[in-house]
Amino acid sequence: MQRLAILEPLDPIAAEARRDIGSALGAALHSATTDPAAMRPLWSVFSRGEPVPAAQLRQVLGEDVVTHAVRTELLIAVDVGEDEPWLRGSVCIVAAEVGGELRWVASDFGWYDDDPDAVSGPGEASATLLAAIPEGNYRRVLEVGSGAGAVITHLASLHDADCVASDINPRALAFTELTAALNAQPGVQTLASDFADQIHERFDLVVCNPPFILGRPSGHTIFRDSADGTGHATLGTDFAALLRPGGLAVYLTNWEYSTGGDDPLERLATGFADIENCSVLLLERAVVPVRQYVELWSEDPVEQRDWINGFSERGIAHIGTGIVAVHRNDGAEQAVSMARYNTGRRQDVRVVIRDWVGTHI
Ligand SMILES: C[S@@+](CC[C@H](N)C(=O)[O-])C[C@H]1O[C@@H](n2cnc3c(N)ncnc32)[C@H](O)[C@@H]1O
Repeated sequence: MQRLAILEPLDPIAAEARRDIGSALGAALHSATTDPAAMRPLWSVFSRGEPVPAAQLRQVLGEDVVTHAVRTELLIAVDVGEDEPWLRGSVCIVAAEVGGELRWVASDFGWYDDDPDAVSGPGEASATLLAAIPEGNYRRVLEVGSGAGAVITHLASLHDADCVASDINPRALAFTELTAALNAQPGVQTLASDFADQIHERFDLVVCNPPFILGRPSGHTIFRDSADGTGHATLGTDFAALLRPGGLAVYLTNWEYSTGGDDPLERLATGFADIENCSVLLLERAVVPVRQYVELWSEDPVEQRDWINGFSERGIAHIGTGIVAVHRNDGAEQAVSMARYNTGRRQDVRVVIRDWVGTHI
């Protein structure tokens, strides 16, 4: 995957360019939504990665933005055998539905998905995470593992809060800054951190959609794959320490069921018994046979076979998918609760978490 000036995470000039071009481009994209003639070249360049004549882009974006975008490699010259220069986007920028709103999201193009450092746009898991967050007055919000930045940008717009985004992948932090700027949210701060390691402030809301896909036999990416079959047990403890009094942490995770083994949810609950000043809710949304799980994440028959074989060699028959919520409720009774909604009962997770928080205040 190409290194691009616009994505250099530690370069202050690149950071400024992300803010400047992000907000200029965001404004242009916004007004182009009602003008098909302006939208067409922008869509070709940024959603499809196709080259268009530079003159067309100058007409829509203005001379200065195009010059700046070329200098910072957001736009790349392509030789199509004509005298006139043509340009294509180096990163993908699309309007994506995030928490029920359309947001402009910058990410790597889909053809880089299997690159170890590739940063993808928001998916169903991002929507699941957002749908689990109860309404609230969150003044300081942290997203751990912000990826392309869609979730934290949405939360920043929704709550008008101080927002911090962290990720272990510097490329993801650069994308988060670009996405925030595209949506006129330049106040989102970014921080490189291995989960909670470098985070020393306290928050009203901590959210995380960590890499949780289990057991992939090869081709792991930072973005999606996890080797922690216990359901990221340590994150609950780490996030509890980042909460202000009354604060809430919510994260997604998957856990392995081995044939004849312990109940992984019970095991998780035991691990959380000693968290100080907090109650914990473990919410199991589904338990799926490994074949179904693998087919959800891979269409390649050879990878599917190796993946299923890997699970069966370790005696793993099912995968549980769910959500962990940690509520800091100093002074009230602390408990670890479990809820299983894997029997076909449909639940509005946001309501379940809101009601659970209400019983622990
Ligand atoms: C599944 S993506 C979620 C991205 C985004 N939050 C969303 O929902 O669209 C997981 C993110 O966690 C990041 N990540 C992986 N391991 C991490 C770690 N040890 N510490 C912090 N972030 C990590 C990845 O780089 C990736 O951006």
